[in-house]
Amino acid sequence: MKRKSKLRERREPVSKNEDEMLAADEMRNSAVHRLHQFTAIEVATFRSRLLDWYNQNGRDLPWRTLARNSEAQQKAYAVLVSEVMLQQTQVATVEQYYKKWMARWPTFEHLASASHEEVNEMWSGLGYYARGKRLFEAAKRVMTDLGGKVPESSVQLQKLLPGVGRYTAGAVASIAFGERVPAVDGNVIRVLSRLRLIGGNSDSQVVVKDIWDIAETVVDPEQPGPFNEAMMDFGATVCTVKTPTCSSCPLNGICLSYKLTVNEQAMKNLANKEYSLLPDIEIVPDCRLCLPPGEWDLSLGVKNFPRKSKKAPPKEENYVVGVLHRKMNNLDEEEYFMVKRPKEGLLASMWEFPSFSINLPTQPKVKTVLLENLETCHGVKRDNVESSSYIGEVKHIFSHLHHTYMIYDIKLTEEFSPLTSTCYQDQQWVSEQQFPSIAMSTGVKKIFKTFITENMPKNASGRSAASPRFQRHIKKRKTSVITDFFSVKNSESS
Ligand code: ADE
Repeated sequence: MKRKSKLRERREPVSKNEDEMLAADEMRNSAVHRLHQFTAIEVATFRSRLLDWYNQNGRDLPWRTLARNSEAQQKAYAVLVSEVMLQQTQVATVEQYYKKWMARWPTFEHLASASHEEVNEMWSGLGYYARGKRLFEAAKRVMTDLGGKVPESSVQLQKLLPGVGRYTAGAVASIAFGERVPAVDGNVIRVLSRLRLIGGNSDSQVVVKDIWDIAETVVDPEQPGPFNEAMMDFGATVCTVKTPTCSSCPLNGICLSYKLTVNEQAMKNLANKEYSLLPDIEIVPDCRLCLPPGEWDLSLGVKNFPRKSKKAPPKEENYVVGVLHRKMNNLDEEEYFMVKRPKEGLLASMWEFPSFSINLPTQPKVKTVLLENLETCHGVKRDNVESSSYIGEVKHIFSHLHHTYMIYDIKLTEEFSPLTSTCYQDQQWVSEQQFPSIAMSTGVKKIFKTFITENMPKNASGRSAASPRFQRHIKKRKTSVITDFFSVKNSESS
């Protein structure tokens, strides 16, 4: 339950000598309360406790092993790849992708000589495909415009490499080149917000800029790289979003939200007895970093921080998808018609089954929409279709979009010749064996998985039983590539 905290109110100093009055005025007028700044002693404590903790508890991650044993330029590549992959993706998912990527493209030079198609294939399943493209473009820039050398400072990295923002630049410059700059991501925002009671909206640019300023004051000048990596690990394993382990936290002695929680809890338990013995924390109403009045919720404790503004709900979009297939020439196998998405935007240049936007419920004749569009875009006439049936629905979540795909099995006649594609940038027929080497998103894999499963005959209990075709399919897919191909997630991003 939210309740009004006594600590939240700014009380006037009891005895007002001139110094106190000046300090009170300054506090009232300044946009940021001094409470949110670390004192020199706190900074020293912060650095030594965090680095000690990291020495004992730091995670052994592949990019760290690689970076440890490399010279600075190579280290920068190893860190850049990991940081770009880690934007919006969990460490556990990134590890495997990272190892494969580094084995295939161990240097900027190797990556610069790849194709966008190959990069997309390698990125397939990681989500936010534009990140892979930008990494590839950064490698090309390093090789073509920068004489094979990556810039060494955070400012130059941001200026000269496409897609490298302040966070990634800070991580690369501090870890690879020892520059004393912070790397503020969501983890660091959470940690600093809790330590310094920052209750301004953490998705406001002004507040984030303030947090960068605060972060600059704490980065260890001797060990900026390890300090930043320690912050990442600390945020991911101790000061977590849902289950922070405050009582054993190495920083709890300098954590204001922890102190506030403990104090408030104690006050509640003591029913205001000995109230005056407890340390006070003032929150100034007009400070942009203070929690707004009335927002403190004791039951949340440190999880009152960071605060976020309410997000607009994700956009719902519906599509009808045609899995067009035909028998391969003289073979007892199917091949599938796939089209390439536009070069820019969501899932740029990825392969998919033809799909068309539908407005539900105002456009209920979904199959008609599909068949009409297949004719317009791909020249499929009604008598080229041997059978067409609805096989099910797949939902796929992007960060900002919820897609629903209504899937139709469109079997084309054997004699039907190759299709045209006026609505997409490219097209091809793909055999089942070729699937794993095609750059396609997780959503498309889910559609294909539904198609394959629905094509299995049902047994007496109505469950799917493996058909000879599906058994052949599975047999062929004993390799790890195929296992990966079908191990799809429920969400990803563009
Ligand atoms: N999250 C973002 N960057 C990271 C890194 N280098 N190590 C661990 N977790 C991270």
